[in-house]
This record gives sequence, C-alpha cells and structure tokens, in this order.
Amino acid sequence: MKREKFSSRLGFILISAGCAIGLGNVWRFPYITGQYGGAAFVLIYLFFLAILGIPILVCEFAVGRSSQVSAALSFDRLEPKGTKWHWFKWAAMGGNYMLMMFYTTIAGWMLLYFFKMGMGHFEGMDTNQVAESFSQLQQQPVLMTVFMVVIVVACFGICGMGLQKGVEKITKGMMLSLLILMIVLAIKAISLPGAQEGLKFYLLPDFGKVKEAGIAKVVFAALGQSFFTLSIGIGAIAIFGSYIDKKRRLAGEAIWISILDTSVALVAGLIIFPSCFAFGVDPGTGPQLVFVTLPNVFNSMGGGRFWGALFFLFMTFAAVSTVIAVFQNIISFAMDLTGCSRKKAVLVNIVVVILLSMPCVLGFNVLSGFQPLKPGNTILDLEDFILSNNLLPLGSMVYLMFCTSKKGWGWKNFVTEANTGKGIGISNKLRFYMSYILPIIVFVIFIWGYYEMFFMK
Ligand code: ALA
Repeated sequence: MKREKFSSRLGFILISAGCAIGLGNVWRFPYITGQYGGAAFVLIYLFFLAILGIPILVCEFAVGRSSQVSAALSFDRLEPKGTKWHWFKWAAMGGNYMLMMFYTTIAGWMLLYFFKMGMGHFEGMDTNQVAESFSQLQQQPVLMTVFMVVIVVACFGICGMGLQKGVEKITKGMMLSLLILMIVLAIKAISLPGAQEGLKFYLLPDFGKVKEAGIAKVVFAALGQSFFTLSIGIGAIAIFGSYIDKKRRLAGEAIWISILDTSVALVAGLIIFPSCFAFGVDPGTGPQLVFVTLPNVFNSMGGGRFWGALFFLFMTFAAVSTVIAVFQNIISFAMDLTGCSRKKAVLVNIVVVILLSMPCVLGFNVLSGFQPLKPGNTILDLEDFILSNNLLPLGSMVYLMFCTSKKGWGWKNFVTEANTGKGIGISNKLRFYMSYILPIIVFVIFIWGYYEMFFMK
C-alpha cells in the first residue's frame, strides 16, 4: 500500500511542531523551570536543545523518511541483516503509550479549565481559592475520567479521518492560532504590576540556585526536558519523516521545528513567571503551576473570562496536537505490525489508552497513598520520570548509535538520507561528534543524575 503524504511543507513543519509543542512547553517547562531555579536552568535547557536535540531530531526524521514506516518496523527495514536493533521497537512503542498515560489526563484538565473559565467559575476568587479549586478537582476521579475520555475519543476520531483531512488540516489551524494568542497574553502578563520580579527570576541566571538544587539533578532535569519537549527518543516524531518527500534536507527542517518549539516554551515562561510573582504564587509549586497561576491573571484583566477561556482552549489545542501525533504513531504501530485496518486500530486503542490512563487519574485520589520516588509524589510523577529521564534519553542514544555506527544503519546511509534535497545539510565533520561525544554526554548525565537522585540526600 502506498504511504500517505502530507499535502505541503508547511503542513509537515506545523504538524511536527505540533507533535513537539504541547504540554511540555506550556505546562512542564514552566513548572520544571520554577522548581530548578529559573533562568540558569533555562540556559542549560537551551544548550541541550542545540547540541543534542537538533541532531537527534535529524536522526529520527532520516530513519522515518528512509524506512517509510513507523518505529514499529523502521529498524527491521534499515538494520544490517542479523542484528537486533529492531528490539528497540518495544521500548519506542512503550514510550509512546507511556507518554499518553499521563498526557491525556492533563489535556483533560486543560479542557475542563476552558469550560470553567468560560462559565466564570473563578470570578471573584483570590489566589488561595483558585489553588483550592484545583485541589478539589484532583479529588474528583469521575470528572477527571470524563474529560480524559473526551480527549482520547476526540483525538482518535481525528486520526481516524486520515492524515491530510484529519491530522494535517486540524493541527495546522490550531497551531497558527496558538502562536498568535500566546504573544498577546505574554504582553499582558509582562505589564502586570509586580511582574518585574518574575522576569528577573526567569531571565537573570543565578547559578547559586542551581547549586542549591544539586547540579546533577538540574542538568538531568534539563536534559529530560529538552528531550520531552521535542518528543525525541521514542520514534514519536520519526513517523512524520515517513510522510514527506525528498525535496528538502532534514537538518533545516529540524532547526525550524526546534525554533518554533523553543519560542513557544519561552513565551509560555513570559506568561507564567510574571504572573506568579504578581499574584504571589510560588513558582516551584509543581505540576499544578499553570492551573493555580493563570486564573488569577484572567481575574485581574478586563474581559478576563473571554481571554481565559480562549487561553485554555488553545492550551487544549497544544496538548491535542501532541496527542493526535502520538495516536497517529500508535495507530501506525498496529497497522504496520498486524496489517489491520485503520478503523480496527482506532477502536482497539481507544479502549487500551483509556485503561492505561486510569492509574494517573486515580493517583491523585484513590491511590494517593502510593507515593513513588519521594513523599508527595504521584503516579503522574513516576510515569513522567520513567519516560523523560529514562526512555527518552536512552532511546535517543539508540537513534544516535544506529545512525552513526557501522553495525547499525551507518553514517553514510544516514547522511545521504538527511542531505537529500535542498536546504541546510549535515556536514561529515559532525561524524565524530555525533558518533562518540553526544552518546557519551547523554550517558554520563544519565548515570550522574541517577546517582544524585537516589544516593545523595
Ligand atoms: N513534545 C511534547 C510536548 O512538549 C511531548 O508536550
């Protein structure tokens, strides 16, 4: 069967950016930055994006474009005969499911907050009441389940409509509107009284704070965040390489996608941190940060109910564009592996993903006694840790080694694929760097981060 294709280059860039841009930018980036000390963390994160993120993104696209299949089969197609690279498919597929196990719940919160804002639920509340309202939500598993299910069914429904009519058309429109609205809100947040302290926290690096939090922990967290934000290491973004033609070289496309992704994260910070300081919310407050900060901003502005509803609607879009991208992978895994129809893949996976998302929902209430990693943690934290600090970095190493090692697909094949077409290419001078230095950096940070996390106080 002929592989489906995107209808335009813009479609490809915006959909890959849509896969990258999501809760990682608007929810995870601000709260992790808040927890690990602000601007200094941001610098380390940007450094990793440039030195690691972009090359790995190119590797994934090259594997996708050359193999013309999802991660479920790409290694089988490209590996030298008799090698075992294809075993990695299980980790890649597991990673995609693991991401959805908590992502769908948070996407559901975004959607619920859209309705709450629109109905004026937060009007007249002070900062504490807004925070209390979020805590109450976490005690309502049924409500959270309903919104999670709506997200899962809607996104699989869009994927079921096909690549061009569903995934490409809907994601393109959502991404463009999101970019415009975020800029409007950043301007509003920066002009709030008291916003300056927030800007300082966010933009003026204080390496003393990094030391306080533990250098290895901060570096490990920045590494995890840069992989999470680009969705690299589990083949989630590789698949979009399989839907494009060979007109453009891949490094140029990867740079564009990374710039878009980084801009959204940086603008999200410009909205959140000034707001935190203006309303006295602790930026280190954790996963609930956007939910306890932003309703206050909207309460303080004229037409806040309208802008607030719009904001959470677009946050839902950002989340949904990632969910759609990952579901496209999940459907493709089933179709590539079993040859089943798209419809069957959709129906079975709706049930599977809903069931897999339940531990995260219940982790805040019924199962809140289970606090993995450290006191106060939830199942969400555990799932995020397994993904961001394990599967993504280790999977990224696999992609790097596969593309550079003679025992894998090899440098020559990789560069030929990445450099087919017009645009910025990959130079042969990068060979040593990508073959040895990058995998070693990832490995050292991985071991060091683990050590500090589990063996140091
Ligand atoms: N890259 C996706 C995000 O940032 C997972 O949300």
